[in-house]
Amino acid sequence: MASAASSLSSHQGNERFNKEAAAWDSNPFVHQMSAEAAKALEKYIPGLGGNSTGNLDVLELGCGTGLLSFMIAPKVHEVVAVDAAQGMIDVLETKIRKSDTKNIVPVCVLLEDPEDPSLPPADRNDPTGPRQKYDLITSHLVLHHIPDLKSVLKTMLACLKPGGMVGLTDFEDFGPEAKRFHPESKMAGVERHGINAEWITDLMQEVGFQNVQVKVAWEHEKRVERWPGEFKPGVPIGQDQGEKMNFTYLLCMGQRPS
Ligand SMILES: C[S@@+](CC[C@H](N)C(=O)[O-])C[C@H]1O[C@@H](n2cnc3c(N)ncnc32)[C@H](O)[C@@H]1O
Repeated sequence: MASAASSLSSHQGNERFNKEAAAWDSNPFVHQMSAEAAKALEKYIPGLGGNSTGNLDVLELGCGTGLLSFMIAPKVHEVVAVDAAQGMIDVLETKIRKSDTKNIVPVCVLLEDPEDPSLPPADRNDPTGPRQKYDLITSHLVLHHIPDLKSVLKTMLACLKPGGMVGLTDFEDFGPEAKRFHPESKMAGVERHGINAEWITDLMQEVGFQNVQVKVAWEHEKRVERWPGEFKPGVPIGQDQGEKMNFTYLLCMGQRPS
């Protein structure tokens, strides 16, 4: 089992996401980026694209309000959508109640243990038995919040069925300028300024993933602060504020050995 320090940076990050949950979906950026992530996953993950049979069991780690979960759900058997912030899960539960999508299972858990009792059991008639294993684990804009990535990658590996895959998307650490992705007011819970392709490839291989492939899946121009603190929390960004900067996004894929 991983140490308590291995996941979301303590309560700082959790507090931030609980606070932001109610207004999360009002930000067009998070919708656009989830749509890009869904497109990349459909393109590269076998069983998720056009002719797929819709039988994958998916775990989404750090689902937030379920933006990506809702996009993937019609193409798969089930999405178990986990997030450490209860505020995010509350919003997701409300959205599920109001929708026709019934194959998303929301779970509030800081995922560190593949056998965490709050995860669904493999046999739904045996609630205390071993936990379910997955064909695919997704995680979007989450890796940069995790202090001990090695430990969480190990957890993911242990949550997969033999031959199952991860498809993890996050912005790329292309150098010191990547720090500008987050405005000063959103630095709580940020552990690193993006994901470095070489470093994550090595780490995934070290943890035991096979067929590791890390590729730039899309790019996007984001409005960033010209100086730290330029954007005020809760105040819409004015046309005359900030400047545009291009960010690349990585899709990190790897497979559990069969
Ligand atoms: C930047 S938000 C992204 C939310 C969502 N994926 C989206 O793009 O809208 C990161 C989320 O990851 C969650 N998180 C981080 N580490 C986690 C872990 N180990 N287990 C569960 N949730 C985690 C946080 O609570 C937060 O809601």
